[in-house]
Amino acid sequence: MNDNSTPSERTLRQRLLRVFAYFSQPLFAWIGLAVSVLVGAAMEPAIPALLKPLLDQGFNSTNTIPIWLIPVAVVSLFMLRSLASYLGDIALAKIAQTSLQSLRTQMFASISVADLRLFRKHPATALANTVVYEATNGAVLLLQSVTTVVKDSLTLVAFAGYLLYLNWQLSTIVVLVFPLVAIVMRAISKRVYALTKASQQAVDQLAYVVEESVLAHKEIRIQNAEQHQQERFHVVNTGLRRLAMKSAIVGSAVAPVTNFFASIALSAVISVAIMQSQANHMSAGGFVAFVTAMLMMIAPIKHLSDVSSTITRGMVAAERAIDLVENVDVEQGGNFQVARARGEVALQQVRVRYPGATEDALHQIDLHIAPGQFIALVGLSGSGKTTLASLLPRFVECSEGSVSLDGVPLPEWDLPCLRSQFALVGQNVIMFNDTVLNNIALGHTADPEKAWRALEAANLAQRVRDLPQGLDTIVGHNASLLSGGERQRLAIARAIYKDAPVLILDEATSALDTDTDSLVQASLRNAMAGRTTIAIAHRLTTIRDADCIYVLGHGRILQHGNHDALMAQGGAYLDFIRLSQS
Ligand SMILES: Nc1ncnc2c1ncn2[C@@H]1O[C@H](COP(=O)(O)OP(=O)(O)OP(=O)(O)O)[C@@H](O)[C@H]1O
Ligand SMILES: [Mg+2]
Repeated sequence: MNDNSTPSERTLRQRLLRVFAYFSQPLFAWIGLAVSVLVGAAMEPAIPALLKPLLDQGFNSTNTIPIWLIPVAVVSLFMLRSLASYLGDIALAKIAQTSLQSLRTQMFASISVADLRLFRKHPATALANTVVYEATNGAVLLLQSVTTVVKDSLTLVAFAGYLLYLNWQLSTIVVLVFPLVAIVMRAISKRVYALTKASQQAVDQLAYVVEESVLAHKEIRIQNAEQHQQERFHVVNTGLRRLAMKSAIVGSAVAPVTNFFASIALSAVISVAIMQSQANHMSAGGFVAFVTAMLMMIAPIKHLSDVSSTITRGMVAAERAIDLVENVDVEQGGNFQVARARGEVALQQVRVRYPGATEDALHQIDLHIAPGQFIALVGLSGSGKTTLASLLPRFVECSEGSVSLDGVPLPEWDLPCLRSQFALVGQNVIMFNDTVLNNIALGHTADPEKAWRALEAANLAQRVRDLPQGLDTIVGHNASLLSGGERQRLAIARAIYKDAPVLILDEATSALDTDTDSLVQASLRNAMAGRTTIAIAHRLTTIRDADCIYVLGHGRILQHGNHDALMAQGGAYLDFIRLSQS
């Protein structure tokens, strides 16, 4: 999420408008909310207004009010008020939930098409946190507080009108207090905004430590690193507590400050009212109604002063969610499409440097693979093999030079179409917590017949037959039900199932024992038939038959040729073969 303009550059009004664009639906709920808020606000001064005639006439010897009218009036008043508030709450929930569902959909869609740099910048937990918690928190906090603002402002206006009607001199005193409260609130909400942003980052860090500890629980236990992890957690946890406390200290200052101003206003009002009553300007009922109305204003004033920090918190959370929708770069592809590529791959003067790296991962790579050719990449760890293979599905972009498929530069290819031309078995196989069938078909129509054929070819059919529900067995988190080698064969089955014109195998058989390896080798040979294949491997068995073997070292092609030619040449390849056989 790269902020094009940081929140501080936007005015509060711009920020509110931006956020509320996402919460403008459904219209009928907004109308319901508006009606309920209006009715609710109008009802408030009715209570003190009821007191005035009651006190002035009801407690007088010449009572003219029928007694039955009192319960009817009081009960109806409260019922109407409660009904308005009930309907208002439902309307608010409708708005919040409808908008949230759509916002979550948009966030997830944005993550799905985001430029891959997003995943280098933000850990999984931070993204999950934004989609799952922050959007909800932000939306609920914001909508509730904005309703409070509108409702309480209207209530205040209604009260102010009533007070003016009763006694304008007294009302002037009350009105004078407002600007003071506003100034205090403004200063405080600025500070709360900064603290809230910092707290959210701390929450992300905390979640990240937990995520890592869970993922690496075995590494942590074997290294006896529990203490170390706990210390890491403690540091972040302490930071979070400090920020939360600061935020609470600042936020809680609002109420006492407003109460102080309210008490000044109250004492002034009472003093002036007593002076006025001595001059016979005000009846007892009128005074009680005035003071009751004034005291009833404290609750909405308090809500309004508290609400600024809630709005701030909600806004920070909602903005993060919206940034995920609006400020995430989308992967850019071209328009070129073809049903099935021939599988001709060419790299010209390709140089790759990772962001932040000081050295190039690949330099001046020239490589041409004819359709249906089988090439192998060998080289020491870190020599750039995975980087080279990652260029093809555009997981990595070249910093210089060009890569093309079927003679068309990769950026001109429509991205989904480009990626449908490759089947990839990566170095780190990741499986979904879903059925075997869905893991194999992933993204394509699930056809059990075809899946069995792929499993047979990957030499995994027997194991799947032995599973409790066969193809429909759920494989657990990252296929924990299977062994490392079985997981690899499942990935190979997925690649075979995809039936793409170019096959990329990055250490696809590294976790297999020699027996299984030779079986899988045989099936891979079948899978390779008629396709361009790029295999990265350490095993001689995998690479020996390659049409051309490229030996990489420090991001350069050191040698290339078939096995026999390279053996005759000696040099890096021979060293590599000696190493792999020792
Ligand atoms: N995301 C990244 N950011 C920065 N540098 C990277 C990144 N990925 C790889 N590198 C660096 O680029 C170089 C080539 O890495 P690459 O993964 O291509 O090596 P490899 O030949 O596949 O090694 P291995 O046999 O260990 O898998 C290495 O020096 C590595 O540290
Ligand atoms: Mg690698």
